[in-house]
Amino acid sequence: MSNANPQGSGDAGWPEYLTGGGQGGHGAGAGSEAGSEAGSEAGSAGASAGDGASSAGGAGSSTGSADQPIGPGAPRRVIGTPPPAEARTMLPDHSHDGPAPPPRELPAEPDDPVRANKVELLVAACFILAMLAGFGFLVAYGTIGVGSIVKVQHSNWALGGTLGVTMLLLAIGATIWVRHLMPTVERTEERHPMKSDAKDIEAFKETFEEGADTSQFVKRPLVRRSLIAATIPLAVAPLFLLRDLGPLPGDSLDTTVWRKGLRLLIYGTGRPITPAEFSSPGSLVSVGPEGYLDDDDAMAKAAVIIIKFRPGQLYFTNENHPVPGKTVKNWTVDNIVAYSKVCTHLGCPAALYDQVNHHILCPCHQSTFDATQGARVTFGPATRPLPQLPIGVDSQGYLIATGPFNQPVGPSFWERG
Ligand code: FES
Repeated sequence: MSNANPQGSGDAGWPEYLTGGGQGGHGAGAGSEAGSEAGSEAGSAGASAGDGASSAGGAGSSTGSADQPIGPGAPRRVIGTPPPAEARTMLPDHSHDGPAPPPRELPAEPDDPVRANKVELLVAACFILAMLAGFGFLVAYGTIGVGSIVKVQHSNWALGGTLGVTMLLLAIGATIWVRHLMPTVERTEERHPMKSDAKDIEAFKETFEEGADTSQFVKRPLVRRSLIAATIPLAVAPLFLLRDLGPLPGDSLDTTVWRKGLRLLIYGTGRPITPAEFSSPGSLVSVGPEGYLDDDDAMAKAAVIIIKFRPGQLYFTNENHPVPGKTVKNWTVDNIVAYSKVCTHLGCPAALYDQVNHHILCPCHQSTFDATQGARVTFGPATRPLPQLPIGVDSQGYLIATGPFNQPVGPSFWERG
């Protein structure tokens, strides 16, 4: 015989590279041969005739069991690994030419069919509810507009809630399915060469088909179909997202609600303000247009800051339009200047004011604007000055806008540079 595996000598399940049987060479071989021909005692004698590596074979022969091998040179099983007799592999065993391993067995049906049927209904219920929640996501996406901050909030709640419930129910259904319908079998697999040969591929195919069979996926159409149905909304959801490509914004990004005659109301109190009340140089007040202070959408673009300067501090241009590095003189009142509060980088409220250097600071990314020079950018990622709002006083002496912003407020975009 040429079988050098110690299994033949009673060391069941231990591969040669662990026992040293292959390296034991003639000693182990002799032991195995003798063991098969004259029984375990003769095998033990054969082992004693070999070198040191053959002692494992001798020990195996003497015990004749799959228990932990004993004796010098015997491999030690690592805690947590199954004993060799219990080890199973999904691939054919190439380590010896002995008898083929027993056919793999997985229970084709659960032990308790009645309970399995109840579990099946439970799993299907989860998947169907997941499907309904998925359709709820689509309905919420299609019906809840995003034209206002409140609507966006509601949309986020609805979309997040329905999608979360969909995922949760899918997870619950799958977990119940795996834990209560599929068989629980522990399998181990030894390392093998990366490239699979034909036998391995065939074995994998068998394993896959066996697994598909025992997972009940084929046999239980209710589970299969409800799972497929549950994933339909998720599959088509990306198509609905294409709706966000429109409609085009038109001029909504270029304009605000500011127009000639609207009073500047103090943000928070809603009071109009006169130049006399705002007489302390270095002061900064946030204001909004009359009639729009409670309109979050309008205020998102129309928020304005007014700053009072001492005479001579502002760098004026007499042109009736913005000039880089200059403040438009006839858009101010008594050295009070009004700038958009919306940062031209990414739209954060820029309302931190450095009275010493007359710098308006945006807290998000530290863009800095010089308030004395037409709010030009002196530092940071913003590329445009804060737009200046033309202001004057009305017949009652309150500050008013004398026109809209003559350039878009807020972040730059591709058409704006
Ligand atoms: S948003 Fe103001 S610096 Fe970025």
